[in-house]
Amino acid sequence: MENRKLLILYGSQTGTAQDVAERIGREARRRHFSTRVTPLDSYSMANLIGEDLVVFVCSTTGQGDPPDNMRLFWRFIMRKNLPTESLCSMRYAVLGLGDSSYLKFNFIAKKIDKRLQQLGAKQLESVGLADDQHEIGADAVIYPWLESLWRKILDIHPLPPDLPIIPQLTILPPRYRVSLIDKDCPRFVNGVTVTESKTADNNNPYQARLLSNRRVTATDHFQDVRLVKLDISDSGMSYSPGDVVMIHPENSPETVSDFIQYMGLHSDSMFTLQQNDPDIPLPLCLPSPCTVSYLVTHYLDINSVPRRSFFELLAQFSEDELEKEKLEEFCTAEGQEELYTYCNRVKRNILEVLHDFPKTSSIIPFEYLFDLIPQLQPRAFSIASSQNAHPGEIHVLMAVVRYKTKLYHPREGVCSTWIASLDPATSPTVPIWVKKGTVSLPKDPTTPVIMVGPGTGVAPFRSFICERVSKRIMGNTLFFGCRSESKDFMCEEDWKSLVSMGALKLFTAFSRDQEDKVYVQHKIKENGAYVWDMINNYQAWFYVAGNAKQMPDDVRDAVKYVIEEHGHMTSDEAEIYLRKLDQCRRYQAETWS
Ligand code: 2AM
Repeated sequence: MENRKLLILYGSQTGTAQDVAERIGREARRRHFSTRVTPLDSYSMANLIGEDLVVFVCSTTGQGDPPDNMRLFWRFIMRKNLPTESLCSMRYAVLGLGDSSYLKFNFIAKKIDKRLQQLGAKQLESVGLADDQHEIGADAVIYPWLESLWRKILDIHPLPPDLPIIPQLTILPPRYRVSLIDKDCPRFVNGVTVTESKTADNNNPYQARLLSNRRVTATDHFQDVRLVKLDISDSGMSYSPGDVVMIHPENSPETVSDFIQYMGLHSDSMFTLQQNDPDIPLPLCLPSPCTVSYLVTHYLDINSVPRRSFFELLAQFSEDELEKEKLEEFCTAEGQEELYTYCNRVKRNILEVLHDFPKTSSIIPFEYLFDLIPQLQPRAFSIASSQNAHPGEIHVLMAVVRYKTKLYHPREGVCSTWIASLDPATSPTVPIWVKKGTVSLPKDPTTPVIMVGPGTGVAPFRSFICERVSKRIMGNTLFFGCRSESKDFMCEEDWKSLVSMGALKLFTAFSRDQEDKVYVQHKIKENGAYVWDMINNYQAWFYVAGNAKQMPDDVRDAVKYVIEEHGHMTSDEAEIYLRKLDQCRRYQAETWS
């Protein structure tokens, strides 16, 4: 069994790539490999030279950026001065997780695959490009990709004699060891430590007091959007226009109590965790000891759509014939279509699945909760305020996520529903920290800016505009779009007063206030001479933010049209002109789905 080692390195932003990496790790252990599964930035890169077999699982975020937990690796591997044959003893495969509705689909995985080859590593399997937009989800690619990879790995390291693949239904040890604490233990105060730290981060968020969460769309509008104001006056935090605030949400008390009931737990039981695997560190954000209710409220993502590993674990523990049969079916290749219809298509969540499999849910051992349920992830919001104009505050424009599927209950976003439910009069706090965003103001503050932000896409531009106006910088142009002037013209008062002061030039596109749709891109074309003049003669920087679906591409096409029409260029020349703007960061986009 010597040298039967497989290293699995992942870069994961929301936990999906981590889940897939861990799944590959379990499959490797079933094939008698000694396996290490670890985030790329927790791995010492100097050791890569000595590795024989490595699987990389990397997602691509936003504008083709690497996830936070592989940024160091990304910078390292892309360094130009790495010796070309440095990884010649490594065999590897890269699996990318991406979303083809974004321009740079699986950019990170493709680049890493190429770079590893340049460094002499041998590709075992061509790069896997899983796509969230696929009809039945990323598994449509991951399944066959893994099957083929295992065939190749087992060619190199065949199964040891007399040791067949361990069947999927054998339960592997849990992620952590859990000790329940008896009731006489001094009670843990069920609150989070308020940090005075200047470097609030994921494990150490700042508890910002909620100052207000006022609705900024009409009450009869389909969408409830809130202008959320948070107090950071004694935090020592600082941010720049274009930065992002991360908010760590809570599950609602109703869902927490349902979960605790389905799993047969007690909300005030207390436990401590110990490491069970040297590669899996303890979660730093959990107090020790911790109550079950704290764990479920703050740490377990019980409202997310379950991944396949969830069904695998349920199937392993199930003792009820009917439930077990169904769960096992969901874990087969043939069962994927049905699983997709049952869960992903209608966005059925973990809580609802547990409710559907009551006999299994109630017997899952408590210590497997950490293997079963993914970690509740922080949500990112573009900051809509300026530290100069709004000292001691962070503002966010937050659409309260709520939509119908075929299921009876509407789907609700955990974070926005929680924030909207808070009453500022009771001084609730919200755990936050700040991250660099993808857009930023021009280095020379006097450079004019053109900003295109339909809907909540206007958030970072509220920050830009307020910052510039507070420093008396002119040359601010905003294209804003929404459905109707009377229903969702967000922050209308702010814009109108800035226009009357002469500090803002505003173009609005109210898409549904007339028969034909009017969008921001129409207004850009309509005012092409002005836009061209600003870009070409005044060196204006151009920004676009908002929903990733079609809008950013449409806006780019409109700008290209303006360059052709008013700059008298051919389509190819206009494309080159646009690319040059991209290269010197004069055309920046921040999009989200
Ligand atoms: P619609 O809902 O009437 O189609 C904010 O969401 C605004 O963006 C709405 O007015 C919405 O219009 C509009 N919008 C939808 N698709 C768009 C696109 N491809 N380009 C620009 N704006 C769009």
